[in-house]
Amino acid sequence: MSIAQTIHGSWASRWVFIFAATGSAVGLGNIWKFPYIVGLHGGGAFVLLYLGCILTVGVPLMMAEVLIGRRARLSPVNAVAALARESGRNERWQIAGGMGVLAGVLIFSFYSVVAGWVLEYVLASSRGELIDIGHVQASERFNSLLADPRTMFGWHSLFVLVVMSILAAGVVQGLERATRLIMPALFALLVVLLGYSATSGYFGQAWNFLFSFETRQLSWEGALAALGHAFFTLSLGMGAIMVYGSYMPKNASISGAVLTVAALDTVVALVASLIIYPIVFSTGVDPAVGPGLMFITLPVAFDHMPGGQVIGLLFFGLVALAAITSAISLMEPAVAFLVEHLEIGRIQSCALLGAAVWLLGTVALGSFNVLSGIELFDRNIYNLLDYVTANILLPLGGILVALFVGWQVKRSALRSELAISNSVLFKVWYLLIRFVAPVAIGVVFLQNLKA
Ligand code: PFF
Repeated sequence: MSIAQTIHGSWASRWVFIFAATGSAVGLGNIWKFPYIVGLHGGGAFVLLYLGCILTVGVPLMMAEVLIGRRARLSPVNAVAALARESGRNERWQIAGGMGVLAGVLIFSFYSVVAGWVLEYVLASSRGELIDIGHVQASERFNSLLADPRTMFGWHSLFVLVVMSILAAGVVQGLERATRLIMPALFALLVVLLGYSATSGYFGQAWNFLFSFETRQLSWEGALAALGHAFFTLSLGMGAIMVYGSYMPKNASISGAVLTVAALDTVVALVASLIIYPIVFSTGVDPAVGPGLMFITLPVAFDHMPGGQVIGLLFFGLVALAAITSAISLMEPAVAFLVEHLEIGRIQSCALLGAAVWLLGTVALGSFNVLSGIELFDRNIYNLLDYVTANILLPLGGILVALFVGWQVKRSALRSELAISNSVLFKVWYLLIRFVAPVAIGVVFLQNLKA
């Protein structure tokens, strides 16, 4: 198998792949979720468990996804089938890719709703509407946004339009251009915000909270949460990284690129925490406050800081940019799939998919207001979408990819595609992908089903 190009286009260089994949990985998971779950699980101990999971499960699985994509140069469903054929295996393994396409569409539908809240907060902070806001008012403001389907609908529609337009412009003109524009802005904003929090009086306290720990803080729940998050934050289990891998130049080293993406993603999560915690500590808020940290606690904190309005605007702008580059990667597997299967153009595929996620997201946002009475399996539609994707589709997709690559694809194909010259390193990776990744994800999967 030696197809040099894809029908969709290819990244100009290895670095474009690295930044596009980092754009996918860095999102609400890093800036909104990581800081609050570190808070909930007691700080440094959780950070250590998380780093362990990234190295032993996240990196090997990401290498497996990139490998499948890069070797077949097709959308996830067809890529898995092509590799199965090459190794003389059953093509039904393509279900792994199919689940990914579905998961991406479903995740996008509610990711867009949350991204819509972020856009509302960008506007509110640019208009100075978050000035003089106390904790009670901040919660009221957030709750009244949730109770207002029209505003949420407007933002959700805008987000869908922006993301689908980037996708419609193509891999090179759309995705690569967005990566080149957004990623430097994202890193610049992170540096500015880090500089600000480093000079605030609480940086040392935040540093200690993240990097010092006592062994008694280590817990089973912490380990489960750490693995689940490692998985989500690296965008694994749904073909996003696989499809990005299929646009990667043939001569680029997969292991080097993946290690760089994982390192950048981890650094961003830690930097986001080092930005948020000093702000949180300076206002005496409990870091274990939970998901409301970003939308309720932070606006109050910004209001109490000198220059807080500008910092708040920069912060929500940063989150919005990170959400856009992640959302693009959520939809690219489905877009590539439609282009390959329906043989319709990219623009038509994007229009079709855009209409689908726009409708589904509109229903999901109703869960917070007009449709709050509708429940399936004891969950409203938004929560159901979140539950089915995060707890079922993503881990299942991850296990299937690990089993497929570890036990079905010919070892010679793996060796030639990974091109790791050091045979010990190859063996370590092979061991991790065959045994450690499927077992570890399987345990989290079963545990989450019980919850
Ligand atoms: N990795 C993204 C985040 O941390 O916010 C979320 C995500 C994006 C998950 C794309 C899966 C995906 F395909």
